[in-house]
Amino acid sequence: MDNCRKEDWFDRLPVQSQEFLDRHHRPLVTVSYAQSVDGSIATRNREQLQLSSRQSMVLTHRIRAASDAIVIGINTLLADNPLLTVRLVEGPNPQPIVLDSNLRIPLQARLLERTDRRCWLACTDNNNAGRINGIENRGAEVIRCRCDRLDRVDLPNLLQLLGERGIRSIMVEGGSQVITSFIEARLVDRMIITIVPRLVGGLPVFDRPAVGIGSLLRLNPVTYQSCGPDIILWAQPQWQEI
Ligand SMILES: NC(=O)c1ccc[n+]([C@@H]2O[C@H](COP(=O)([O-])OP(=O)(O)OC[C@H]3O[C@@H](n4cnc5c(N)ncnc54)[C@H](OP(=O)(O)O)[C@@H]3O)[C@@H](O)[C@H]2O)c1
Repeated sequence: MDNCRKEDWFDRLPVQSQEFLDRHHRPLVTVSYAQSVDGSIATRNREQLQLSSRQSMVLTHRIRAASDAIVIGINTLLADNPLLTVRLVEGPNPQPIVLDSNLRIPLQARLLERTDRRCWLACTDNNNAGRINGIENRGAEVIRCRCDRLDRVDLPNLLQLLGERGIRSIMVEGGSQVITSFIEARLVDRMIITIVPRLVGGLPVFDRPAVGIGSLLRLNPVTYQSCGPDIILWAQPQWQEI
């Protein structure tokens, strides 16, 4: 029996994404990832691990279909070469977006072969026109963003640009550096974490000391749901001031 319905929790959300965009001028951000019981999202060498059960993957695809866009980091693209489509359920494919400050994407990446949606590559404004043209000729669309303090894509600027393009909701699927950056920037409105009954000893979701998290981030309200062998944690982050 399918015990992994997304509707229960989504329907109880306090705001809908269009209302959110109108009010905040940025999309609603859902961070979603799978981790082992010991908190690993990949191997220690940053190689892909298939963690989620099929039932959880179906749920993930439902959430994808309910989002306007999916965001991943360039290292996830290099490790997994994903398509980011909705395959396990019926529903629309969200807009794929890759954070790729220096346009490292290989021209043979599978995302560049999609014909239904042009991949959007968010880079910084330090890239030369030749590289941008080469990538756009392969079918992607480059979005130039401001640099953050680490010379990477500035997330508030990216979200503002996505809002201007009418993107109302995004699903951030990883990997660890991208999730850490969204949390550090407090640009997370809800979290969906799939907890898988495995012990891996691999890459933790925070791969560096995350600035300003510590005791300041609580998940509240939080709901747990079983999904095949996995547990799905649905939560809203609650930021506390010192
Ligand atoms: N279990 C799961 O649910 C799950 C989901 C997704 C991925 N993964 C795994 O996670 C691993 C990859 O994670 P990762 O931490 O190595 O890399 P990542 O988070 O996928 O990508 C990080 C890269 O994105 C670019 N980037 C651009 N702007 C950024 C910003 N503001 N903040 C952070 N990054 C930014 C940076 O490269 P530039 O400086 O070159 O732009 C950065 O090195 C893979 O093994 C993958 O399989 C697991």
